[in-house]
Amino acid sequence: MSVKVLSVLVLLGSAIYILFSFPKVHPDCGLNVKQLIEKYGFPFENHTVTTEDGYILALHRIPYGRIKNNDHKREPVLIMPGTFATSADWVNMGENSLGFILADRGYDVWLANYRGSTWSRKHVKLNPEVNKEQFWDWSFHDIGIYDLPALLDYILHITKEEKLFYIGHSQGAVDFFALNSEKPEYNKKFRLMIGLAPVGYFSNAKSSFVHFIAAYQNEIQAIVDRYQLYEILPHSPLLATISQTFCNDNSPFQGICAFIFYLAVGHSNQLNKTLIPVIVSNTPAGSSFKHWRHAAQVYISDGKVPKYDYGEQENLKKYGQPYPPEYNLTQITAPVALYYGANDIFCAQEDIDKTASMMRNVVVNKRVPDFNHIDVVCGIDVVKVVFSDILKLMKQY
Ligand SMILES: *[C@@H]1O[C@H](CO)[C@@H](O)[C@H](O)[C@H]1NC(C)=O
Ligand SMILES: *[C@@H]1O[C@H](CO)[C@@H](O)[C@H](O)[C@H]1NC(C)=O
Ligand SMILES: *[C@@H]1O[C@H](CO)[C@@H](O)[C@H](O)[C@H]1NC(C)=O
Repeated sequence: MSVKVLSVLVLLGSAIYILFSFPKVHPDCGLNVKQLIEKYGFPFENHTVTTEDGYILALHRIPYGRIKNNDHKREPVLIMPGTFATSADWVNMGENSLGFILADRGYDVWLANYRGSTWSRKHVKLNPEVNKEQFWDWSFHDIGIYDLPALLDYILHITKEEKLFYIGHSQGAVDFFALNSEKPEYNKKFRLMIGLAPVGYFSNAKSSFVHFIAAYQNEIQAIVDRYQLYEILPHSPLLATISQTFCNDNSPFQGICAFIFYLAVGHSNQLNKTLIPVIVSNTPAGSSFKHWRHAAQVYISDGKVPKYDYGEQENLKKYGQPYPPEYNLTQITAPVALYYGANDIFCAQEDIDKTASMMRNVVVNKRVPDFNHIDVVCGIDVVKVVFSDILKLMKQY
């Protein structure tokens, strides 16, 4: 048989396969956070919190587990997702979801949505589609010093507690570092901080996306300004549909979908490919270019965690010095536990160790073999390898 005939046969075969293999859609596909929580039998509460700088944030609560037990005091836990993620990413792994596990263990679970993400696109004055430049003018710094205290104070007020547990993934950790170094009076409000794939010092990150932004900061900024591309990767129903069609268990393209995940967050054998279309139903959920540019500045800062660099003249006005000042991580006195994967392209061991060495009360610094940046939230073995540790640790605080 000639090569030509063979390739025609292969093409024909694939076409027939695609046409006749029905997509095997996971029943959780297309469900939003409320639908996921209620489907699994948990109560859902929808709260809104306004920050000092006017952003109106959605805060989603699972107040108790499937068995309601009134005598039991439920400690509040605030969970902050990483960039591009939302409250849904803590409840989209079925029974293995951290949000569900904590609720069933008797915690009062509060799932945050940072400014600009799907459920937090409101502001007292600004419209994210119209006042683009102003609405998207923020980085992890602003999430840390505005979103976090607003959420935290709201929860402590509602629950009449003095302290809470905090779990932050990726950006959710650097938000915490920014808050407690800038406003150290907040340290005492944290019973324990758990950082999953915690980004802090960042010079040894291996992400090509971050490397690319760092290398072409000014060129990209010019394009962003010209075409008003301040928002990046908002929630996309189209992407959700594409992922249901091409990433489901019957699709010959599922491997390509997994490959795209690995490019973004690092390789691993921990990705449950069946759940890709469930994850993409709600994620990515939007971020700002300024946030990524700030991350890229930290990356090229040569071992510092500086504030946003506006250029010499603006820095002089904003900070009173030509270079942006650094966050003072030694101001962080709240107890901190860090978990990260050995294949994480954002969290290198050197960077994590340096972050840990600066803070005063690090109680755990655990490196998990084979895990990547998101496996600490949704890896196949995450319950056994990370969550069970966290549950034990939380009991001690
Ligand atoms: C929460 O309430 C807001 C305001 O009423 C509403 O726009 C939003 O859809 C609700 N969120 C969910 C997840 O249902
Ligand atoms: C992946 O997720 C599916 C659907 O929730 C589940 O049935 C399956 O057991 C998971 N696979 C592994 C290896 O955990
Ligand atoms: C950082 O904070 C520590 C502890 O409060 C303090 O001793 C030190 O002077 C601060 N460093 C800078 C550069 O502000």
